[in-house]
Amino acid sequence: MAQAQYPFNQRRLRAGEAIRELTADIRLSARQFIQPLFVEEGIEEPRNVEGLNGVRVDTLETVLITIEQDLKSGVSKFLIFPVPLHRSAEQFDFSFAVRVFETIRTKFGNKVWLAADLCLCSYTTHGHCGILNTEGTKLLNDPTVGVLSNYALELVKAGSDCIAPSDMMDGRIAAIRSKLDEYGFDDRAIMSYAAKFSSQFYGPFRDACHSSPGQAALKDRKTYQISPLNGKDAIASALRDEQEGADILMVKPAALYTDVIAALHLQTNRPLAAYHVSGEYAAIELLAEKGLLNREAAHLEVWTSLVRSGANMIISYAARNATAWINEMKY
Ligand code: PBG
Repeated sequence: MAQAQYPFNQRRLRAGEAIRELTADIRLSARQFIQPLFVEEGIEEPRNVEGLNGVRVDTLETVLITIEQDLKSGVSKFLIFPVPLHRSAEQFDFSFAVRVFETIRTKFGNKVWLAADLCLCSYTTHGHCGILNTEGTKLLNDPTVGVLSNYALELVKAGSDCIAPSDMMDGRIAAIRSKLDEYGFDDRAIMSYAAKFSSQFYGPFRDACHSSPGQAALKDRKTYQISPLNGKDAIASALRDEQEGADILMVKPAALYTDVIAALHLQTNRPLAAYHVSGEYAAIELLAEKGLLNREAAHLEVWTSLVRSGANMIISYAARNATAWINEMKY
């Protein structure tokens, strides 16, 4: 018998669309997507965000229209960022956020799944994710956790299915879990921003939420967000959050940290969320505007890399396009 010339022929499996479809290692589904929504108090009209094409900051009235359209496009899971009008150093008024959740829940009932980003960066005068000491040099861990736990309780009472703490304080998951349980909300999930790196790629988001730090002596978030140089810190933080009761662990940014997603996937049985953040999203949008790549195909390729690495769900500003793009491109 003649010896096959290329015994390890890999191209057989790439030969046509049918065999490529059959042999795919992973699948993308629109069902695994979460769409972020911004809702701001005190603006008359929705406003666009530089770099975030297809995304706007809504008013409490217009967010209902946005959600209605999103449901038609096939996305029903949302991560909500309320942006209040009034800011303070330590006395926070959560009534606008409460109204946002009550209004959406009343209008859409169980047709929507709602997660709440839980952070103080849109509430503080200085834009940090918590309460600062009087000198403005340090973020105070436990007072911040106390405020966040109370805020979380208000949000679940208002109808949030899931609390997503993005502040990066120590001990917040345990504190929030016990607060929710104490008040009978043991059915509400916690999606922890577990591996959240200190990143350049949150730029466009900070414009959307007016949450750039810099008014205080403490100029950046490096004392609470994870260093890009320390992947092990991300794993340790995520496993710690799991121990404290986090139901879902998030890695953020996503595409730059697929090594962390893959490593975490092997070390936990918790589902993983990958947040393709504003700067990562905007990078694709700007390249597409310059004609340097195909927008849809590029987003699909990134999403694929996240699922391949081990993410169960994807938070993307283009989640509302997932159904159409996955169908069109036969992903
Ligand atoms: C709030 C928060 C941030 C993001 C999500 N929640 C900004 C930050 O930590 O500075 C970033 C999301 C994005 O860039 O898309 N703490």
